[in-house]
Amino acid sequence: MRQDRAMIGSKMNEALNAQIGREFGASYQYYALAAWFEEQGLPGFAKFFLRQGQEENEHALKIVHYLGEVGGHVVLPAQPQPKSTYESALAAIESFLAAEQEVTRAIYELVDLATAEKDHSAFEFLQWYVSEQREEVASATGLLDRARRFGEERVVLLDSTLS
Ligand SMILES: [Fe+2]
Ligand SMILES: [Fe+2]
Repeated sequence: MRQDRAMIGSKMNEALNAQIGREFGASYQYYALAAWFEEQGLPGFAKFFLRQGQEENEHALKIVHYLGEVGGHVVLPAQPQPKSTYESALAAIESFLAAEQEVTRAIYELVDLATAEKDHSAFEFLQWYVSEQREEVASATGLLDRARRFGEERVVLLDSTLS
């Protein structure tokens, strides 16, 4: 960290590095889901998760840029291997919702930390992620809902509506 001009404390810096890891982790996981759906002959879901993976990359890079702006230091966390097989399309979609719920909890903790550290800049920056997570959880919930209504046997019909 460039101490002379750092506008971020080391605790907040570390926590944001951990969040970069979670965003890239989600990206990696969604690319794995895209690959799995492709293998299942469900190209609509595959495309949907490819796009999700790209979005998560952007979320991670947005934090990298923020740390650059405030004179922080970026350390990219190592990533575990993402899950590569699922029992069913429904189980795969459930894992998407669970992942988004987990990221939402992590974002809320970051907002709490920004408040505790009186880091108004980080607090303001994180608000974008708060609304993004609201949208993502709503969209994952909607997708899971529709998939459950179609049922595993007819999930291919839902696939054709996705792109
Ligand atoms: Fe994200
Ligand atoms: Fe997300």
